[in-house]
Amino acid sequence: MAVDLLLGLQWGDEGKGKIVDVLTSNYNIIARFQGGPNAGHTLEFDGIKHVLRTIPSGIFHEESINVIGNGVVIDPVVFVKELEGLDKYNLDYKKNLIISRKAHIILPTHRLLDAASEASKGKAKIGSTLKGIGPTYMDKTGRNGIRIGDLELENWQDKYRALANKHEAMIDFYNVDVQYDLADLEAEFFAAVETLKRLTFIDSEEYLHQAQKNGKTILAEGAQGSLLDIDFGTYPFVTSSNTTAAGACTGLGVAPNKVNEVFGIFKAYTTRVGSGPFPTELFDETGLKMAKIGNEFGAVTGRPRRCGWLDLVALKYAVQVNGVTQLMMMKGDVLSGFPKLKVCTAYNYKGEQINHLPYNIEAENVTPIYTEMEGWKEDLTEMTEVSQFPKALNAYIDFLEKELEVPIKIVSVGPDRKQTIHR
Ligand code: IMP
Repeated sequence: MAVDLLLGLQWGDEGKGKIVDVLTSNYNIIARFQGGPNAGHTLEFDGIKHVLRTIPSGIFHEESINVIGNGVVIDPVVFVKELEGLDKYNLDYKKNLIISRKAHIILPTHRLLDAASEASKGKAKIGSTLKGIGPTYMDKTGRNGIRIGDLELENWQDKYRALANKHEAMIDFYNVDVQYDLADLEAEFFAAVETLKRLTFIDSEEYLHQAQKNGKTILAEGAQGSLLDIDFGTYPFVTSSNTTAAGACTGLGVAPNKVNEVFGIFKAYTTRVGSGPFPTELFDETGLKMAKIGNEFGAVTGRPRRCGWLDLVALKYAVQVNGVTQLMMMKGDVLSGFPKLKVCTAYNYKGEQINHLPYNIEAENVTPIYTEMEGWKEDLTEMTEVSQFPKALNAYIDFLEKELEVPIKIVSVGPDRKQTIHR
């Protein structure tokens, strides 16, 4: 069987967790392919709200197997807390949660390095979640990293010590004020590693290969968003992994010709946490209203998210880079009550009108050109069918579909699993 992908098309926080949860019953396996505990995938059902960090969003479905792929970076301390948070649901995660031996491990010193690196950047800081993501991927590509499979070796702690010592020297080099007690952090880390070792470690590429041969259905779950991709995002204000479709191939060992549907998720408006350019950002009452109604606060850091109108130039770029075959529009309900809606359809780039995302989208280079549309007043959150949609919402959706040339198959009208309308 082929593998379907599910990806965020903006700067993250599009609502991937909810959609994976909605789609899970169609799949035998849910596999995370990149990122780590910088992600916060929120799921809501039966009055329960739960945020997942590293664990795939299929965990609440008894029948599905959840795979953490080689492209993911795992912090044992955060991971074990995540498991403890799941204890109350009586899930059998020993059976339905498996981890690639090739996934890299976030060490306590990676987190410290993240903090030191950000502090040294001053105003130019990335706005990292400070979970150690960047330094861990740096050690991966620098060929110094420690992987899950290493935990099965007798001498892995020697390797750990050598790397942690090197990190301490690097932290000194940054010469910034980062306070820490490594002995405390290590005690917590080593205890968490022992718990982690009770889970199942596998050669996940082989597992997924066999699963495909045996007709199992697989959904690859992305984290962050396409505009945070290390290659195609708004560099350097990006995360350190490939969040786009190609990342699913390298992060799981799935061949490109085995990819079938690419589900692209976007919000009906745009948000961003952390630093970096955001052409359609609103600094006025309208932006504040979106943030308030949309409850736009980071699931991991609690930071307020920056809000703005939908940017179709950026969205088209993400659709192209990922080869999106079906779109899913989230948080349409948040736009109820805005008299007029704006959609950015082109940029004024250094005095010239362009329709593609250029190399440099800082405010001094790019001014958005908007198309204005009618808003709708109706509350969408109780709606269950497309036939109930107000005319203006249908016009908004039709306009986006025409511009993006991809069908919008799902419209989400609230955080709960049930508030999902299929078109
Ligand atoms: P890092 O991945 O923690 O290093 O953060 C790099 C940038 O990506 C920062 O701007 C973060 O706010 C952003 N970021 C990382 N993970 C997420 C996410 O899951 N949702 C939204 N933004 C994220």
